[in-house]
Parts: sequence; structure tokens; C-alpha cells
Amino acid sequence: MAKQVLVTAALPYANGSIHLGHVLEAVQTDVYARARKLAGEDCVFMWAADTHGTPIELRARREGITPEALIERAWHEHRRDYTDFDIGFDIFHTTHSEETRRHAEAIFTTMEAKGDITSRPVQQLYCPHDQMFLPDRFVKGVCPKCKSADQYGDSCEVCGSTYSPVELGDPHCSICGTVPELRSSEHLFVPLARHEAFLREWLAAPDAGGKTELQPSVRNYVMEWVEGGLRDWDISRDPPYFGFGIPGHPGKFFYVWFDAPVGYIGATEKYCRENRRDFDAYWRDPDRTQTELVHVIGKDIVYFHCLFWPAMLHAGGYTTPSRVHVHGWLTVGGEKMSKTRGTFVLARTYLDHLPADYLRYYFASKLGTTQEDIDLNLEDFVLRCNADLVKKAANLASRSCKFVTSRLGGTLAALPDDAASIVAAAQARLLEARGHYLAFDSARAVRCAMQVGEDFNLYLTEQAPWKLGPDQVERARAVCSAGVYASQVIAAILAPVLPAWAAKVERMLKLPQRLDFATGGAPLPAGHGIGDYETLAEPIDPAKVAAIIEASKESTPMSTTDTTAADAAPTYEVEPLQAETTIDDFAKIDLRVARVLTCAKVDGADKLLQLTLDVGPLGTRNVFSGIAKSYAPEQLVGKHVVLFANLKPRKMRFGMSEGMILASGASDDAVTVLELDGRSRPGERVS
Ligand code: 2FM
Ligand code: ZN
Repeated sequence: MAKQVLVTAALPYANGSIHLGHVLEAVQTDVYARARKLAGEDCVFMWAADTHGTPIELRARREGITPEALIERAWHEHRRDYTDFDIGFDIFHTTHSEETRRHAEAIFTTMEAKGDITSRPVQQLYCPHDQMFLPDRFVKGVCPKCKSADQYGDSCEVCGSTYSPVELGDPHCSICGTVPELRSSEHLFVPLARHEAFLREWLAAPDAGGKTELQPSVRNYVMEWVEGGLRDWDISRDPPYFGFGIPGHPGKFFYVWFDAPVGYIGATEKYCRENRRDFDAYWRDPDRTQTELVHVIGKDIVYFHCLFWPAMLHAGGYTTPSRVHVHGWLTVGGEKMSKTRGTFVLARTYLDHLPADYLRYYFASKLGTTQEDIDLNLEDFVLRCNADLVKKAANLASRSCKFVTSRLGGTLAALPDDAASIVAAAQARLLEARGHYLAFDSARAVRCAMQVGEDFNLYLTEQAPWKLGPDQVERARAVCSAGVYASQVIAAILAPVLPAWAAKVERMLKLPQRLDFATGGAPLPAGHGIGDYETLAEPIDPAKVAAIIEASKESTPMSTTDTTAADAAPTYEVEPLQAETTIDDFAKIDLRVARVLTCAKVDGADKLLQLTLDVGPLGTRNVFSGIAKSYAPEQLVGKHVVLFANLKPRKMRFGMSEGMILASGASDDAVTVLELDGRSRPGERVS
């Protein structure tokens, strides 16, 4: 019996915005999951935000909000970005959920009962000012090997050596600069060596009877870790720590990497409850008789997914991964993404300028089975999309469909005999593509689509139906029907990558069923009527790409979180600044701290909230703000916000608006109001 399939992508960390590197992984996972669904399999894509740990704790503190508020905001932003990239997850949950807590606790208590947890004191650097133990990345100092200054507590960016933070020279807390002291604290560990036999079995190659699918290079380097001796894994952290408390160990929290992957399980439980599916069949299937569990990850987190995670699952009695697929990094223009070069592109910045499909196609056309880095070369991106999607695929559909609808009454003929060999080739390519997708080789799969395009474009050009005389209408119809057929097969091949394209073709061709690998190769019968051509793709204007880079130079990579006044681009509610606006003009704007006294919905305007603001010595102001899709009134009462205090009052249908509040967002339902620290004083100037 075919197994049900559960696919995951790494859970994006709620500490920052989604960038194109995240999108690369999301596209690879999505294409794979969609392909399995289109192959007729029972497949679900379980996903969530990864929400715990010190960086979240500290960022929330810096912003003067709770970690819960921070992760909630990130969750909305992430889910929207991925949705707009057409990522077809079946659920996007959060690790900060009761489901995840319960399963993390269950795994821990089962392990503890089996003797799989030990404890011992750990000496660690502690900041007396911030009153916390400092994670390695929060200590800076002089590299013990090469003596370079200002290096992180775990590794040196100059000489590449790794070390323990206690070895750093002249250490200081990266939050406040204080010299940390060494303190001891009791920590809990998973002695991984106890699971060596299981891990060796789980990691075994197919020719040694292994049942886990891993890329050979991944298997090899994980095996090197095993051969090098498995070390104990420290899974506890001391407060302040945003996370789950460890049952039976008051004052100790699970290290974020303990509960992060449990988020896969938590998401599945919620999904099963909402969709009447059997949770146990997914996750309580240690022998994997019913379920195939596939993880897609980047090469930086192999250690967690190929050692700790299978050991936890095995020890806890859960289903272990059937396959872990590891991809490489995204580079832009052959280099690491860079903020100064404008190549650190946020998902939203891309979407502001171009449709998702081009990037989905480009990534899919480059993603294969290895961990080689994927380069987004911007010129190549434009050329590739224009050549493949526009010239080969859209053009073929456009010329054949349009000819049939405008000149031949919109009805198809049987496919002509002289196209039999390319028709057979197209059918074979559809099946071949299916295999490539299921092997994570989307690059080869989309090449199959382009080969079909090349064959039929050539055929159409040679047969030139538009040159045939009135006595050869039926020949013209047959030739164009071949073009229409090719467009159908191309859409079927590209469906996992370009679901919107496939849906358009289904509509245009009035197909009796959804396109999938089984149905996509069957020609429509003679006499079938098709609908009007809908534009499938238009050439990318290189200026759009330039605009993305330009916008990325300005945009802050952590827009989710860095909401200092300078970072929150006032794109919302503020009149667009004119090109000739100068710094002096900008200085004329009077920004003041304002406290929200009352906030209410406005009858008859579903986008507006009416706020009464306390502006200290400047009195109170009545302001209408178009943020009702993003905020419930009670969320803002008592908050300190930024008021544009010297704008000319504006008469609105509902009353006078005496200023604007600073907010920013990509769409009406994704607006963030800049909130100031509660200690700021109403009326105070904001610089
Ligand atoms: O590396 C990361 O960004 C992690 N947030 C991935 C977590 S994957 C899973 F284990 F949750
Ligand atoms: Zn400090």
C-alpha cells in the first residue's frame, strides 16, 4: 500500500524577515510536495515558525514588547510572504504552541525515564549587568588563535578557528559591553553516544540495508561525526529565556533546537485535528509502515536533523525521517548576499516589483540533487525567464490558442499524424519530469518542459498554419491543435513550479479535469472548444530587477523587528515623497511621541480606526488611521506611537484628522504601527 507522505521545510526563525534564501528552500520544498500531490499521492506539507531562544528574548526586550507579540507579528509577516510566493503549505503553525510543548515534554520525559538524560554543572560566561548567561554569539573578544579583535565567542571570522567563549581574550558582553564573569550552572544533556547503534542503522547506505534516503555526501559527513565520537548534547538553558520550561526541572528551559523540530509534530497535530486525519499514523509509526517523512533543509543544519533529531524521535517512540534532502546556499551574482550591494533581497521587496512565478521558475530551473550553491545571476534571471517562459512556453500557447479562437471558431482537431513522434516524445517527457521532481531534480524536470516547447515551436514554424490558404483550414486546425496540446503538456510539467500558470491553462483550454502527471498527456478530443488566451507571461523588464536591488540597498534586512524610527520606512499613510525632497524638507516634519487614549472602529469605513492621542503639552489630537485591517482597537490603547504633528488638518468624511501616526506595511492587513518605549513622554520630539 502506498504510504502517506509528510514533507517539511526548515522552520523560519521568527527573529527576522523572509529573504530570498528562505524563498529558495520554500520553493524547493513546495515544488517537491506539489509534485507528489500531482503524482496522485497523499502528501501534506507541514510548516511553522520557529519562535524560541535568546535572540527573540533580547529583541523583544529591545523593542519594549513581549516575545509573544514579536513572534505573532513575525508569524503574520512570514505566512503572508510565503503565501504570496505561492508556497502551498498545508499548515503554517508556530513552535510556541500547546501541541509543540506537549510533544517536546513527552519526548523529554520518555528519554529521562529511559536514562537518556544526564546532568552536570557547566561553567559559562555570565553578564552581571544583563543578569544572564551569554550564548556564544553574545560574547565578543580577542581570538585565542590569531589574536584578531572583536570576534564572536564560538569562532573567529578572520582565521576560521573554533573555540569556547571562555578562551577569548578580553571578553565582553555584546549587548552591554560589560566584562562577563565565569559562573556555574547545572545543565541537562542528551548523551548521544547512547544512540550510536540506532544512528548507524538510520544512517546506513542502501547497499548496507539502510532505509533512509540521504544524499551520499551528506551521509558521508554525518558518518564522519559518528566515527569521531558522539558528544553529549546540552539541551537546557537558564532564564531569561523565551521557551518552554523543562518538566521536573524548575528554572530550566529547553534549548530552542530541542523544541524547534518538534514544531513539525505540533503542526501535524493541529492539521490532523482540523482535517480529521490520524495523527498517530503520521508520527507514531516508528517502523514507517504507513508514513514517509521527508525533511528539506539547508546545509547548515544537517547536524540537528541527521543526529539529534532522529535520536530524539527514536528515543521518544516517534516516526523517524525517511529522507533528509539538503540544499546549498543562495548566492546573488556569485557572492554571498550583501546589504551594501543591495543583494540581500527580502521576499517582500521582490514581490513589490515582480510576480512570484519568475523567481519560482528560475530557482526550480537551477535546483538539483546536490548541495551546490544556487546562484541568482540577475542578468541570467531575466534572460532565462524571457527565453523559456515567454519565448518558448507562453508564445507557443499564444500563437496556437489565439489562431484557433480567432480564425478557427475555437475548436480543436485530432492531432495530425506528422506530429505523432513529437507527441509521443512529449508524453515521455511528462513521465520523465515526474521522476525528476520526485528525485528533487527540478532543474531536469523543467528542462523536459522546454524540450517539448522547442519541438512544437519548430513544428509550428515549419508548418506555418497561418500561411495556409482557405482550402486548408482543417490542416491549419490540426497543426494548431498540436500547439495547444504542447501547451497543455508544458503546463502539466510546470504545474509543481507554476501552479498559477497551470490553472490558467486549465481554464483556457476548458480542461475537464485538473492537470496532473496522469492526465496531462492525454490529447483533447476533436471538436473540443477552447476559451480565449490569457496572458501567461510577459518579458521581464530589466529595470524592475534594478529597482529590486535599489530598494534592497535601502531596506533593512530585519524589518520584522528593527523598528527604530530610521528603519520603519514611512511608506504608509504618508504622501509619497517627491523626487526633489531634500533633507531640509524632511527636517520640517515634526515627529512627536503620542499616547493612545482611545481607539475605536469607524462605522462605514472598515479600514479606518479613530484615535484620540495625548500629545503632552500639545494637547490631544483626533487622528484617523487606515490600520483597522491590522489592529484591533484595544491593541493600541495605552501604546506610545509617533505622530506627524505639524501636518495640515485634513477634513475626512468622518471628521477632522489632525495628523498621522507612523506606520508601515506592504498591504492594508500587514501594517505595523511604530511603537515607542512606554517610558517615552507624550509630546516629546522624536528624532
Ligand atoms: O536554521 C533555522 O533558521 C532554524 N529556524 C531552522 C529550524 S528547522 C526545525 F528544526 F525547526
Ligand atoms: Zn551585558
